[in-house]
Amino acid sequence: MRLIIDTDTAGDDTYSLLLAMRTPGSTLEAVTICAGNVPFDQQVENALATIEAAGFSGKVPVYCGARRPMVKPWEASTMHGNDGMSGANLPIARQRPESQHAVDAIIDRVMAEPGKIDILAQAPLTNIALAVMKEPRIAKAVRHLWIMGGTDNSVGNITPCAEYNFFIDPEAARIVFEAGFDITLSTWTLTLKSSVFETDQLDEIFAMKTPLSEFYRKVSAVPRQMAQARYGRPMSTHPDSLTCACALDPTLIEASRQAVVRIETAGEITRGFSAIHPPVLGNRWPDYKVNARVIERASNGGFFRMMKQALA
Ligand code: BDR
Ligand code: CA
Repeated sequence: MRLIIDTDTAGDDTYSLLLAMRTPGSTLEAVTICAGNVPFDQQVENALATIEAAGFSGKVPVYCGARRPMVKPWEASTMHGNDGMSGANLPIARQRPESQHAVDAIIDRVMAEPGKIDILAQAPLTNIALAVMKEPRIAKAVRHLWIMGGTDNSVGNITPCAEYNFFIDPEAARIVFEAGFDITLSTWTLTLKSSVFETDQLDEIFAMKTPLSEFYRKVSAVPRQMAQARYGRPMSTHPDSLTCACALDPTLIEASRQAVVRIETAGEITRGFSAIHPPVLGNRWPDYKVNARVIERASNGGFFRMMKQALA
């Protein structure tokens, strides 16, 4: 599979890059950076440092995209520490970002080979929305769009109603879901159900003692401490890398459904909420069409094996 990953590189975003670089049969064609988790330039450095740590320096171009969401001011997360890498202090990478803007890189690469490239969007959807606004034909030219964001009508991780990526730029998310892409959605609800590594799994990774398992141990330190405080155990969640794993190996998807996904942009309490429902709800509703497949359950064991293989 040929993949472009759009990312706000911090924490779990980096494991997703590792999976895409190190899983046999996968080619990470480009990385595009979008405003999200931590200050923009730090995200760029985090992506470049991850590429270098994986031994892919100079092989995966990194493009800078939107430095802020479309409408409301951006809000950084402290979930992964101030640098997004739990203070891992990785060396500054030799590779530098490309001069072309991420939105143009996405359009050029997708339109040069229609039907060949998948996109994994694991950040607020600003870059993808801007790309489809500039070149609407990409919606049909992307082979498949994998999105990490929203909740499956459940509790969010930044407000009770919203997940971080959709909360930060709901206007962009709405544009993307209405643009006609072939979409698979991986939600925060799925993250909690299928992506968690418990203590025994984490111990197995730490015992590997490879450079990349050490990378994982260092970069996951702050979220593990936060999980200890919040859930009483140092488990680790993987919203982005589980989505990447499902893209690279769709047999990991154990249950899914076709649905209508609509994003709330106006609500004072519900801004960023992803309403997910069947196409027909009754006569008083407009004729909403299915616009995404929503993953309901994925194989935690299969995902864990893929991650260990990538960190080996
Ligand atoms: C998403 O928000 C970000 O903090 C993570 O990188 C992930 O993409 C999870 O809600
Ligand atoms: Ca992310």
